[in-house]
Amino acid sequence: MLGLSKEDLSLLSAIETGMKTHEWVPTFVVSELSGLPDPKVQFRLGQLFEKKLVEREKMHYLGYRIDFAAYDLLALSDFVKQEKLSAFGEKIGVGKESVVYEALGAGRLAVKFHRQGRSSFKHIRRLRDHLDGRPRIPWLYAAALAARREFAVMETLYPTVSVPRPVARSRHALAMELVEGPALNRITLSDPENELELILAEVATALKLGIIHADLSEFNIIIDDCGPRIIDWPQAVDAGHPHARELLERDLANVLRFFERKYRIEMPLDRALQIVKKTEPAQVQEKETEQETEKGMEQGALRS
Ligand SMILES: Nc1ncnc2c1ncn2[C@@H]1O[C@H](COP(=O)(O)OP(=O)(O)O)[C@@H](O)[C@H]1O
Ligand SMILES: [Mg+2]
Repeated sequence: MLGLSKEDLSLLSAIETGMKTHEWVPTFVVSELSGLPDPKVQFRLGQLFEKKLVEREKMHYLGYRIDFAAYDLLALSDFVKQEKLSAFGEKIGVGKESVVYEALGAGRLAVKFHRQGRSSFKHIRRLRDHLDGRPRIPWLYAAALAARREFAVMETLYPTVSVPRPVARSRHALAMELVEGPALNRITLSDPENELELILAEVATALKLGIIHADLSEFNIIIDDCGPRIIDWPQAVDAGHPHARELLERDLANVLRFFERKYRIEMPLDRALQIVKKTEPAQVQEKETEQETEKGMEQGALRS
């Protein structure tokens, strides 16, 4: 399905393993780890190099390593092995820190490949490689961590909160139900008041389960036949997080700002907070005085 043979995949997987101990994995190590004879390994790696699925460097030995392209394939082949995925399709979304493709499994799926950290880690890579105990490939580590976090959060929330059904995770990739519909910023709602209420109800339910999205906006809400569906959860925080309240307020402020600009619906932040926390007005007011801290943490704990 992926246009690669079993042997090619086992070579990529051997390089993946080898990269735990080598920056550039020597062919004899690839041969050992894959169980394939050395001449065959050399020939196949040459072909994978032509396909740009492996990088290589000639030092006192010829060494190989892999990048996101190969990790994507390894994750996909894992999904196939787990029988979660049967066909792979078109790109349907590109975010700042991810690429999303359509796929088929039990129904239509979205496969999200996290790309966190690639550019920010590239320049410090060499330095980090020499520090003991640090992951040798920090960008992949960051992307896998984000995928793991997103998958865990979605498993906690689904189906109580309206999120795509999480299906599988491998490395930096996750497979989930494909939500069919436009993002909130791309449609004109016939009953925006009702939609805003439904969104606040989802935020309230997530909060009840102890989760705050922390990147909520009109871009991360898809409107399908059943109402709003909230996507993009890797940066979600627990309700006990030190910045939980600020993050919740910022989420709500983003949504309120959108509804005010586009639909002229004016709801004060306090009112929205009251709805999602179902607290008494007195409690909400008491917290109002602490709002100055919001600015200060914007640079900090978010999307690190
Ligand atoms: N489950 C899904 N169903 C349909 N489209 C999706 C799904 N998940 C993501 N997308 C599309 O991919 C884009 C990027 O995904 P998102 O999770 O928001 O990641 P990012 O952090 O890069 O914004 C979304 O804006 C949306 O268009
Ligand atoms: Mg997004």
